[in-house]
Amino acid sequence: RQRFESKRQRTFAMIKPDSYTNTGKIIDAIYQNGFVISKLKMGRFSNESAGQFYGEHRGKSFYNGLIDFMTSDVVTGIELVAENAVERWRQLIGPTKTSVAKVQNPNTIRAIFGTDDTKNAVHGSDSGPSWKRETDSFFSPNVKHSAYYTSCAVCV
Ligand code: PPS
Repeated sequence: RQRFESKRQRTFAMIKPDSYTNTGKIIDAIYQNGFVISKLKMGRFSNESAGQFYGEHRGKSFYNGLIDFMTSDVVTGIELVAENAVERWRQLIGPTKTSVAKVQNPNTIRAIFGTDDTKNAVHGSDSGPSWKRETDSFFSPNVKHSAYYTSCAVCV
């Protein structure tokens, strides 16, 4: 138990608008792969809150398309707890570009559910500092929620 506690880590996952109807399957994959959900919020990004969340990409060629897409419909933000959660979630979702995922990592969530480089089903933090920034950003009142689940007994 002590070993589990010492390596336990959190990460931020998000189900994007294109995979709203795959939410059940993705949550099933989360539990099947040994993660525990500690927070979950369904909500809508505004232009402002999406811009804050994706601030590091401002100015890139895909930025406007990314913001349009992420504000187009419901997203589900999920805080995950597991050993080495950041790295393990990134492995489970696969490469950012769906086209690459389908060829190189066909068993990953993006390969299975993604359709292009913007509609790639899910997001995952790329490091511990990003997890903290992203979870604070998404679970703030700036992202209006339509449903909110929190405080599972084993992970608060
Ligand atoms: S990069 O290329 O290093 O900036 O890519 P990355 O940091 O992995 O994440 C980029 C996020 O923008 C989304 N997006 C695209 N990326 C690359 N190319 C295109 N055309 C594109 N369109 C959108 C991509 O899905 C990443 O979103 P998140 O939510 O971070 O996974």
